Parts: sequence; structure tokens; C-alpha cells
Amino acid sequence: MEINRREFIDKGTKLTLGLSALGLISNSSFAAREPGKKLKIALVGTGSRGTSTWGKDLLIQYPDQLDMVALCDINPKRLDFAKKYIVTTAPVYLARDFNRMVEETKPDAVIITTTDCFHAEYAIRAMELGCDVICEKPLVTEAWQAQKMLDTEKRTGRKIITTFNARHSASAEEIKKVLVSGTLGKIISAEFMEFLDIDHGASYFRRWHGKSRFSGTLLCHKASHHFDQINWFLDAEPLEVSAFGDVSFYGKNNAFRGKNCRNCSFTEKCDFYWDISDSKLMTEMYVACEKEDGYLRDGCVWDNEIDTFDTMTVEVRYNTGAILSYSLNAFLPYEGQRIAFNGQKGRLDVRRFQRQPWDPGHGSDFRLTHNFKDTKTWHVDPSVGTHGGADKKLKDMLFLQEEKDPLGKIADSRAGIFSSLIGIAARQSIETGKKVNIADVIDFPVGWTFADNH
Ligand SMILES: NC(=O)c1ccc[n+]([C@@H]2O[C@H](COP(=O)([O-])OP(=O)(O)OC[C@H]3O[C@@H](n4cnc5c(N)ncnc54)[C@H](O)[C@@H]3O)[C@@H](O)[C@H]2O)c1
Repeated sequence: MEINRREFIDKGTKLTLGLSALGLISNSSFAAREPGKKLKIALVGTGSRGTSTWGKDLLIQYPDQLDMVALCDINPKRLDFAKKYIVTTAPVYLARDFNRMVEETKPDAVIITTTDCFHAEYAIRAMELGCDVICEKPLVTEAWQAQKMLDTEKRTGRKIITTFNARHSASAEEIKKVLVSGTLGKIISAEFMEFLDIDHGASYFRRWHGKSRFSGTLLCHKASHHFDQINWFLDAEPLEVSAFGDVSFYGKNNAFRGKNCRNCSFTEKCDFYWDISDSKLMTEMYVACEKEDGYLRDGCVWDNEIDTFDTMTVEVRYNTGAILSYSLNAFLPYEGQRIAFNGQKGRLDVRRFQRQPWDPGHGSDFRLTHNFKDTKTWHVDPSVGTHGGADKKLKDMLFLQEEKDPLGKIADSRAGIFSSLIGIAARQSIETGKKVNIADVIDFPVGWTFADNH
């Protein structure tokens, strides 16, 4: 049965945004299961994210709430590593046996932490087999995946959570609170600049993220966090997208290249030489397993086949009338973000520091300035833990009954799809040189809400 797209936009938008803004509903109903009954989890994709946040940490943090019942991956050696690293007795299954795994181990929910382009396939199969889905971002990398996922969710009645941990950082919570307070009046425009440095930024070009067929480019892989945050901050949905993007730094933009760092003859002269064997964890998780699937974790950043943009700008118009100006550069000398909101009554400036040579300090500087009035500054420190404490806060909300969600931080399929659709539309705009209507990408009439909100 096809989802009724008008119904999706109409009932979904108005009801979800309205009630979640009031803090009356939460999608984190994994916590609301039968008392004393543990949630049975299967994990597909046992790489870095899967074995840590959604593996080892998960079992340490929520022993009374959930059980890991199975692990699945394409790589048998990484599966063996994962089982030991996570410290679980759960059986392991190769990817081709995913259906058998679900039938034999009967998980309530499947956590998906594979390479991005496979998220949709597993989400769809998990729902068809009767499971809920907890999926890493980006939820999808192609428009057809979005459509199929929505159809399956509707048909099966299962639930999808997109794990947008970035909503749970202390600075994101602070931004949302300022905007919800209404102090800026109606938001007219927003600015978001993402600075990825030559360490973190380069890391994407050493592995599958550098090939757009796997990651949907950083417009999906990385920017899905930022597009989701802006959608959430503004309580708005995207209508139109235009973009530019280039591979201007990595890939072909160097005189020499190798296959991967370990076997390279240019280690002396390459600024990006990285010795993966310095890390026991990386060696066990990737190097020791690479013969099985050819996945080189220390691939060359100058690989001629790199087609993921390292510089990009995106403009988005929303159904509230607000416009967004976004940029991402992945080769900078420092890391962080600049975010701003221009409202009818003033402007909010946020500078997020992550790594900069002149000041290693962390956290975010806020400045709130009202037209014709005062300006106020304050600093927000990150919480303790991975991703500034955001990973734990997200999981607490998913799995602990006492956690409430007044800011509407738990993201569903709708949020996952809208954030990915901005990236997908941006790719189309870059390819065609034309502005793209979101309604044309996924074939449902988003645009009708535009007039209502103007
Ligand atoms: N939210 C966050 O902060 C955050 C942080 C890191 C990664 N992630 C997400 O987590 C996911 C995994 O990232 P990672 O860094 O762990 O990557 P990774 O390369 O370390 O792990 C990916 C795993 O997926 C497996 N895999 C590949 N194709 C598969 C298939 N068809 N079927 C089953 N398994 C398959 C690989 O063998 C590997 O073990 C990505 O989607 C990424 O976007 C999110």
C-alpha cells in the first residue's frame, strides 16, 4: 500500500510539531515497554560506531533495560572482533543471513550502523520482519530509499528512530531553548557554517565516505546532522534547495598518491601520512579484517576516485518562509561551527569551538542581541562523554523510562528523511545547476504548506 503523501505532510507536520513542541509526546517509547521486560536488540554493522556507542557502551550503560541478541556484518573477522570487544555472548551472523538472524533471535529492534548506503535496505527488511528500527544518520542516501522506507513503515506499523545525537549536545539544547522562548520573534533567516579540520575532515576521505555511492557525499553523511538541527531549531520543513559543491582539496588535487598509507612510497613527503598501526584498536578492527572485504581504513586522501565534495554551499527555503545559508569545508586548520539566527526582534550568534590552534578550549559562545536594545553573552560547556555527552543523553531518552522529551529531541523517520532530502536535493542542484523543489525529489506535495505559513 502506497503512503498517502498529502496525509504524511498534513497530519504528520501539524500534529507532530505541535505536540512535540509542547512536550506532550515523545517518540522514545522503547522506554515504555512492559515493566521488567528487557528490549531485545540486534546490531547490524559492527564497525567503529556499532561496537562502541551501540555495542560495548550500550551494554555497560543499560544492563537492566536491554539485551544484545545478535550481531551482523559482511565481514566475519570484524564480527569475531566485535563479539570480544563488546563482551557479549550474542551469536554472530553474516549479512547474507540477516533474515535468518531476525527469525532465530527475534529482536524487538534492530540497530543499524552499517555504511550509509545500506541503512535503508536493513531498515526496510527489519520492519518487514516485525522489528522496530534504530538507525544511524543519514537515514537514507537516495530519494527512492526514502519513499520505500516510508511505504514500509506505513504498511508494517513499525517505528523508526533516527539517532540524531547532535540534537542532544548542550549547545544544541541551548539554541533550541532560546528559539522556543520566542525572544527573537519570527525567524527570518539562519546561517550555519561547518568547519572540519585536516584531521577529522581528512578522515572522511581515507575511507568509504569519500565515494559518493557509499555516503551520498558529506551532504548526506555529515550535513544530515546540521540540516536536521536547523529543521528542528526552526520547527520547519524544507521546500527548495540550491547548492554548489566541488572536490577542490582531496582526490585528484595532488601531484602524488598511493593506495593506502601503509604501502605508500610518499610517506616522507605527504602531510596526510597516518600510521594506523599506532592504534591497537584500529589495527584489530580494520587492518586485521581487511583481507575479507578489501576495506582499507587508511586509504589515500588523494585517491583519484574520490567524488565526495570537500567544499559546498547550500541555500534552503523553508515552509515557514525562513531561509538557510549553509556551508561545509573539510580541509581547514581548525574545527568548529558558526551558527546564527536572524529574527524580527534580533539575532542569536553561536560560535562552537572544537579544536583550534590558538585556544584548545571547548564549548560554545552565545551572543543574543535585541534590536535597539541590549546584547548578552554567555558560554555553554559540553557535557562529559562521547560527542559532548550527546550519545548518552540520546540513549537515556530512548531506553530510560524517567527521561522526558520536552524539546522534542527524539527524531523519527520524518526527521531523518527531511534532513537527507536536503542533501539529496543539494546533490541534484549541483549536478543540474538548477534549484530543486523537495516535492519533486520525493514526489509528494510539500509545497502546499508554504502559503499557510506565510
Ligand atoms: N551519529 C554519530 O555521531 C555517528 C558517528 C560515527 C558514525 N556514525 C554512523 O554510523 C555508521 C557507521 O559508521 P562507522 O564509522 O562505524 O563506519 P565503519 O566503516 O567503521 O563501520 C561500518 C560497518 O558496516 C559494515 N558493513 C558494510 N556494508 C555492510 C552491509 N551491506 N551489510 C552489513 N554490514 C556492512 C562494515 O563491514 C563495517 O563493519 C555510519 O552510518 C555513520 O554515519 C554516526
